[in-house]
Parts: sequence; C-alpha cells; structure tokens
Amino acid sequence: MKKLFIIANWKSNKTTFEAHNWLQEISNFQFPISNEKEVIVCCSYPSLPLLKRFVSERNLPISIGAQDISPFGAGAYTGEVNASQIKEFATYTIIGHSERRNYLKEDDEMLAKKVQAALAEGITPIYCIQGKETPIPGGVRIVAFEPISAIGTGHPDTPEDAEDVAKSVKAVHPNVSVLYGGSVNPDDVHAYTQLPSVDGVLIGGASLSSEKFTQLINNA
Ligand code: PGA
Repeated sequence: MKKLFIIANWKSNKTTFEAHNWLQEISNFQFPISNEKEVIVCCSYPSLPLLKRFVSERNLPISIGAQDISPFGAGAYTGEVNASQIKEFATYTIIGHSERRNYLKEDDEMLAKKVQAALAEGITPIYCIQGKETPIPGGVRIVAFEPISAIGTGHPDTPEDAEDVAKSVKAVHPNVSVLYGGSVNPDDVHAYTQLPSVDGVLIGGASLSSEKFTQLINNA
C-alpha cells in the first residue's frame, strides 16, 4: 500500500486560541492512526509552538509544517522567519503556494532559494506547482499540484487531470511524491487518493473544521 500525505493548509486563519480548540476537538475524535497516512498540519508561525507542545504532550500522530520560509539565513532581514527558527517547531514547510506567487510576487528564483534554505536545515519542502510546466527545484521530494482555478472555488480539478499531471511530474522526477490540492472535501477525497500517481492531498478550506478534517483523513 502506498503512503498517503494528508496535509492541512490553514493559510492565514486561526488565532492560537482557535488553533488550540481545533487541536482539542481533533484529539477527542476517533483519530485514525495508521502508518500508511501521514497527517501534516501547516499553521501560521504564532501557532507553531502551541502545535508542537500539544502534539507531543498528547502523542498525536500529526506532523507540523510552516507555510513559508525565509530565503535567507539568520541576520538583518526584518520580518523574515528563517529555517533554523522554523526547525525548532516544524519538520515541513509549504513553499511556492500560488497565493504567495500572486500576492507576494514570489518568483521561481526566490522559491528555489527557499527550497535550498529549507533543505539545508533538514526541513522538507512541500512544493506547490500550478501545472506541468511549473519548474521544480532540485532536492524537492513532495510536490503539490494545485491548479489556480480549483483553489478555494468549490470546483476541484477532475481526477483524470490530477492523474495526468502527477504522472507527467513523476516521469521527469521519479522520486517525487505528488499530491493534489484545490477544493478537496470529505466526499471527493478518495477519488484523488485512489489515483495510481497521486500520493495524497493538500487541503485548505476543509481543514479549518476539525470534524471535516477528521472525515477527510478517514475517507482518504
Ligand atoms: P482549498 O485550498 O482546499 O481551500 O481549495 C487548497 C490550497 O490552497 O492549498
């Protein structure tokens, strides 16, 4: 059986109070433990210490991710959060989400530097691509295919298209896991996770509800 990644991307949502409630709720549900499914929650920076503490105290089968990383190391880069700081709390980070490419004008060159910064500290990048043609920097092992038309719209891409893109990426990068993201919900998640070339899902809106996210994990 292939390993599946089920990844929550909370984006710029949840205060630490709300994050704590979500964790409390999810730990009360029948949280599925399985070696075949790795659950990763990518929260905002202020919630990282809380997630790390909560998960380790309750021994929850959840890995922790950031949503971005500085392309620079420590130093005079006001506002940036660098890899060694993130590493204190997280083992993964999303890099290259289309919202950052769009609103923050992050380009392929900067994103390649972010990947290098993450890898240098042993943080695993979850690298977002918008289509087959998006360049993938060297060293990336997890790619998330997220077509812009499917993000937050309630109109997911077809499983056929997700399979086609995942297969094409793997033809060029054979050691990469490819996830699908964009309006995935508990009812359609299995249509993606059952695809031969798709290794999991990246979930935005539906991950904000602890109940929906638990259903997503169970149904994947
Ligand atoms: P969505 O977001 O599930 O709300 O469409 C996915 C993402 O942008 O990672």
